Amino acid sequence: MFVAAVLVLTYLTRCSGKIYEDVSQLPGLSYDFIVVGGGTAGNVVANRLTENPNFSVLVLEAGLSNEGVVDSIVPFLLEDFLQQPTYEWNYTSVPQAGLNGRNVANLKAFILGGCSAHNGMVYTRGAMDDYDRFAAVTGDPGWSWNNLLPFFFKNEKWTPPVDHHDTRGQFNPSVHSSEGINSVSLSALTWPEFSHHVIQSTKELPNDWPFNVDMNSGKPLGLGWIQSTIGGGKRSSSAASYLGPEFITRGNLHVLLHAQVSKLVNSNRVNGKITFGGVEFAQGGALFTAKATKEIILSAGSVGTPNILLHSGIGSQKTLSHLGISTLLDLPSVGQNATDHPVFGLGWTVNSNQTQESITQNTTRFNEAFAEWNRSHTGPFTSETTTQLAWLRLDNQMFTSNNFTDPSPGPDAPHIEFAFSPGTLGSTPPGSHTISVGIAVLHPLSRGSVTINSSNPFASPIIDAGFLLEDLDIFTGREGIRKVLKLFNQAPTWQGYLVAPTMDLEDHSDDALDAYIRSTMFPAYHLVSTAAMSAKNAGYGVVDPDLLVKGASGLRIIDASVMPFVISGHTQAATYVIAERGADLVKKAWGPK
Ligand SMILES: Cc1cc2nc3c(=O)[nH]c(=O)nc-3n(C[C@H](O)[C@H](O)[C@H](O)COP(=O)(O)OP(=O)(O)OC[C@H]3O[C@@H](n4cnc5c(N)ncnc54)[C@H](O)[C@@H]3O)c2cc1C
Ligand SMILES: *[C@@H]1O[C@H](CO)[C@@H](O)[C@H](O)[C@H]1NC(C)=O
Ligand SMILES: *[C@@H]1O[C@H](CO)[C@@H](O)[C@H](O)[C@H]1NC(C)=O
Ligand SMILES: *[C@@H]1O[C@H](CO)[C@@H](O)[C@H](O)[C@H]1NC(C)=O
Ligand SMILES: *[C@@H]1O[C@H](CO)[C@@H](O)[C@H](O)[C@H]1NC(C)=O
Ligand SMILES: *[C@@H]1O[C@H](CO)[C@@H](O)[C@H](O)[C@H]1NC(C)=O
Ligand SMILES: *[C@@H]1O[C@H](CO)[C@@H](O)[C@H](O)[C@H]1NC(C)=O
Ligand SMILES: *[C@@H]1O[C@H](CO)[C@@H](O)[C@H](O)[C@H]1NC(C)=O
Ligand SMILES: *[C@@H]1O[C@H](CO)[C@@H](O)[C@H](O)[C@H]1NC(C)=O
Repeated sequence: MFVAAVLVLTYLTRCSGKIYEDVSQLPGLSYDFIVVGGGTAGNVVANRLTENPNFSVLVLEAGLSNEGVVDSIVPFLLEDFLQQPTYEWNYTSVPQAGLNGRNVANLKAFILGGCSAHNGMVYTRGAMDDYDRFAAVTGDPGWSWNNLLPFFFKNEKWTPPVDHHDTRGQFNPSVHSSEGINSVSLSALTWPEFSHHVIQSTKELPNDWPFNVDMNSGKPLGLGWIQSTIGGGKRSSSAASYLGPEFITRGNLHVLLHAQVSKLVNSNRVNGKITFGGVEFAQGGALFTAKATKEIILSAGSVGTPNILLHSGIGSQKTLSHLGISTLLDLPSVGQNATDHPVFGLGWTVNSNQTQESITQNTTRFNEAFAEWNRSHTGPFTSETTTQLAWLRLDNQMFTSNNFTDPSPGPDAPHIEFAFSPGTLGSTPPGSHTISVGIAVLHPLSRGSVTINSSNPFASPIIDAGFLLEDLDIFTGREGIRKVLKLFNQAPTWQGYLVAPTMDLEDHSDDALDAYIRSTMFPAYHLVSTAAMSAKNAGYGVVDPDLLVKGASGLRIIDASVMPFVISGHTQAATYVIAERGADLVKKAWGPK
């Protein structure tokens, strides 16, 4: 693929705001609330808490500034950005038994905005059934779809596409909000030829691939136009939106970069519950302590949060004593039940030059498109290349006849996602034009873990996503391939357009498809559930439905790690909604009644 030159601009000074690079610039080290991690969720929490002028908030973020990082801002440059280790945690992951012992990356962003600053920008809320299951397993109706909808609306700022094309029939305005903070938009119509074939599929095979005007209504089944966390042609990360100029100037909101939290400190026991007076963090090789007079909120993500808990003595006593860490709270679920979506792709060369390669393989065109973005924030650089997504179920009978139980949370939730892109998922045969379909298994049964094998809090935790350990997951993936092959064989629109597959599925037998999946699968990077919520008196779980850590007071977790199950979609919208509701719970606990 095309690798752009180094495009990172660093500004040595900031014109406004309270984002500090050096601890010595902070007015003090005691705040009402300390938020650990200025990522997707953490910046929402910081924004919402500081709406109350009586609350002071300090965000401690280990990573670098997002300011002027062009590869993060320009949607089309995502692939280049993900190649840059500078903005990566470089976490250690273990060889995967389900992938023939292959190791796969576990990308986590090391930048203000967290993964919202380097993710694929796909905006999908998932299914109603996902959240209704959250409510059922936690015993808190506040996590149901209907009760969360106002929080989705607080997050979402619906924005017109940059080409101002007629969007009627491409989304349903009644399920969106233009009053929120984080921009969401349809893409410009950059790939009309490819989009035509995809949409035409819903007309030619409407039973298998029904059109869905809006996959974010709570009922995602079907095929429709992608929506993305992009506004005005630029990525809308939580740093760009929730820490935007109108918010960061609040006197009660401070953000410190290059501040890596090692552990919770100053523990005490009050009424049988453990409390922590502050957090220890490192900057420039020195250790500091920041005090929280009301609450510490962990928003360090599905790897960072369990890592900090374990180093603070919160986790399985067995693991901790082995490392010489004394256990303050024996919570064996910390870091367990880690769940991610397995993804793999199918590719074809096509009889057209209207594909991503027309830009990535042509320096002149690449520079023209980049210059257009620079000039007016329009053109192909305003989005990444996936144009439509589809969400399908397998027949219940397919599960039962294979001795499986339907893993989905309900009848409106899909089992498989299909991402249609006029571009490659891997490497393009030289000189050719390709399209691809990414396939994700949405309700895997496999579980992994985030653990530690060192008492040094600055050592990398060990990530094991446990991909494809369960037969159901590979079975579902295989059926996903069969659905795509059937689509391309049966829908007339694809005839004459597709030339040849770029992958070798041999004889299409179960064994051949399984081998293809195990040897090519990569993570969706939707890791969740490593500090999962459960009902108040459940014998497992890490946080109660109010997101307070079980057995602790003044310590909450607000990030993707609390999801009790992975949702039927990309996880940022779910993370945002958890953050919006989580912040609301904190405000109500401490604010005017
Ligand atoms: C490559 C990639 C692509 C993705 N694509 C999509 C997509 O297209 N659509 C979608 O919906 N989802 C996508 N996701 C998933 C989604 O982005 C995440 O689920 C979500 O952003 C997680 O939010 P979070 O707040 O839990 O964690 P993060 O956003 O990761 O925030 C955690 C923050 O804490 C900081 N931190 C961690 N440890 C410490 C410490 N010890 N001290 C201080 N700070 C610390 C981190 O630097 C980070 O800023 C993608 C994820 C990745 C990695
Ligand atoms: C802030 O504190 C003042 C003084 O205690 C109080 O009158 C006011 O209601 C508080 N405001 C909020 C939003 O809590
Ligand atoms: C990851 O590795 C890169 C390249 O070596 C480095 O610049 C970056 O700081 C590392 N990230 C962390 C969190 O150490
Ligand atoms: C993992 O989650 C399941 C519920 O899905 C629960 O029954 C189990 O106890 C959890 N395991 C741990 C170690 O938390
Ligand atoms: C793309 O293909 C069309 C039709 O085959 C042709 O007219 C056009 O010149 C091609 N464009 C490029 C940039 O190759
Ligand atoms: C590369 O892009 C330029 C500018 O759009 C175009 O004129 C040229 O035909 C393209 N070259 C090829 C080989 O497609
Ligand atoms: C666009 O702007 C970026 C950042 O200012 C610069 O690095 C890049 O060279 C520009 N590209 C073009 C083609 O103008
Ligand atoms: C399902 O289970 C039954 C009973 O254990 C067994 O006889 C049958 O072969 C199984 N079917 C499949 C497809 O594994
Ligand atoms: C922890 O695991 C990593 C990766 O497997 C390994 O390199 C390292 O040596 C281990 N450390 C300890 C203290 O066991």
